[in-house]
Amino acid sequence: MARVLPTVASQLIVFLLISSFSTILVSGEEQGFARALDRKLLGLKKEKLSHFRFFFHDILSGKNPTAVQVVPPSNYSSSTLFGLVTMFDDPLTLGPKLSSKMVGKAQGFYASASQQDVAFLMVMNFAFTEGKYNGSTLTVIGRNNGGTSRVREMPVVGGSRLFRFARGYAEATTHSLDLKTGDAIIEYNVYVFHY
Ligand SMILES: *[C@@H]1O[C@H](CO)[C@@H](O)[C@H](O)[C@H]1NC(C)=O
Ligand SMILES: *[C@@H]1O[C@H](CO)[C@@H](O)[C@H](O)[C@H]1NC(C)=O
Repeated sequence: MARVLPTVASQLIVFLLISSFSTILVSGEEQGFARALDRKLLGLKKEKLSHFRFFFHDILSGKNPTAVQVVPPSNYSSSTLFGLVTMFDDPLTLGPKLSSKMVGKAQGFYASASQQDVAFLMVMNFAFTEGKYNGSTLTVIGRNNGGTSRVREMPVVGGSRLFRFARGYAEATTHSLDLKTGDAIIEYNVYVFHY
């Protein structure tokens, strides 16, 4: 009996050493950096598909333009205005009239990115202010070939708040365009999966 006890004690010490060592490994290498997570812990329920429709007002003229050129084209004779960058903070409204109910702003820029066709790289967030969507955003990054297509499709690559894990696409069609000023009203139909 007298010899058994120290053996048990030393086994216990070895066990404790190993287990504390493996605890360090688990917290350091698995839980601390990456781990599988039950989606319920983030409050995620069933994924749903939503359709949003609104009008985007790109106002270049007047005393209070909402879209401003920030980088000139590399060459003003270029028919595609290659290199032009315009930053915008454009109202989004329920109807085509600027006076109709505002649901948010589209904030971002479009940059002429093609030397052959009229096509823009468009980078923007839809920052919603309406109802439960107030404070939530959707992010769109894509190619807007405004010069050649009636319907321009751009990917929705993500979002925040209610739109966490969002993905989908946005379709833009021109509702009206003032050829003199460049002011445009664009209809957006946005289809997104989100939780
Ligand atoms: C500007 O564009 C025009 C039309 O495409 C072209 O003829 C001209 O050579 C260009 N100029 C420069 C400096 O690239
Ligand atoms: C949206 O949220 C902001 C900040 O919480 C608040 O000031 C504003 O009144 C809200 N707008 C609407 C339309 O609910």
